[in-house]
Amino acid sequence: MPGDGIGPEIVEEALRVLNAAAKKFGHEFSTEEALIGGSAIDATGTPLPEATVEACKKADAVLLGAVGGPKWDTLDPAIRPEKGLLGIRKALGLFANLRPATLFPELAGACLLRPDIVGKGLDLIVVRELTGGIYFGKPAGTEVRDGKRTGWNTMIYNEDEIARIAHVAFQAAQKRRNKVCSVDKANVLDVSRVWREVVIEVSRQYPDVELSHLYVDNAAMQLVRDPSQFDVIVTGNLFGDILSDEASVITGSIGMLPSASLGSAQPGLFEPIHGSAPDIAGQGKANPLATILSIAMMLRHAFDMSVEADAIENAVHKTLQAGFRTGDIMEAGKTLLSTREMGDKVIACL
Ligand code: IPM
Ligand code: MG
Repeated sequence: MPGDGIGPEIVEEALRVLNAAAKKFGHEFSTEEALIGGSAIDATGTPLPEATVEACKKADAVLLGAVGGPKWDTLDPAIRPEKGLLGIRKALGLFANLRPATLFPELAGACLLRPDIVGKGLDLIVVRELTGGIYFGKPAGTEVRDGKRTGWNTMIYNEDEIARIAHVAFQAAQKRRNKVCSVDKANVLDVSRVWREVVIEVSRQYPDVELSHLYVDNAAMQLVRDPSQFDVIVTGNLFGDILSDEASVITGSIGMLPSASLGSAQPGLFEPIHGSAPDIAGQGKANPLATILSIAMMLRHAFDMSVEADAIENAVHKTLQAGFRTGDIMEAGKTLLSTREMGDKVIACL
């Protein structure tokens, strides 16, 4: 699903890399394209056509570019591009959103933190609950109450929703550095008190993983103060939305970071962390590397092809080491490339 803005350009490069990897390793992928977001609104009147949901359900994995743009910002909230994204997450049951934030050594100069802070390391993953919480909680709405425009949402989690995302986090930690930090607002919110209770219960099944807890305000602060303390952060939908943006931008390379959204059975969805960047759409300026790295995540998680995934990740590192950059990560002395040229370089390194 290329989506909107720079989506089509970066997805095109990512698919070229997928096909190059397939050729190299003797695989064959069949791909089908589907509409989502603003481009789907333009073509069909809805951000998530039924045909798109069907195509995704039939697939083994879903690749997404990005959705949204100023053209659709004034539409009725019920048919905004973002609804397409929320809708497909829900339709595919993608409750676990994995958002790694890592420092690319080649891009250390772009990191927003002081060298002495990142010197201690920045390699964490935010495991964000994606199909519940305040994003989907009912009741929600707007009305005029006592003559005042009023809006409300409900932050709600039941123990099953909390337990399944907690399991994902603990299992992710077992493959990393065996640390989970659960982020909530249990000093204020009832929903967070249940969250914390259930996470502690689930943790008993993972005695090898160290569990800690932070309130979300403190977590936001600790992320910039000392990100090396984090391995896996597990949190609800809204806190995860906010903290994953923070975690990715401090690396200085938001145009570099991929993500995976996984359910228990259905196909996973893989997409760059960044948005549709309408200001540079169609100009060949976008950085395709986050989408290319999303292909690597797809190969690893959806197809169990870790050798192929490693090869793509290595090709990206080599491309950066050779000094090639798109505008968002450009530094003096490096070579500025277009979206297509960057795809070419990665394929050449592969
Ligand atoms: C994200 C985005 C989405 C979200 C928007 C576009 C609906 O911010 O994937 O983080 O809030 O989940
Ligand atoms: Mg977000």
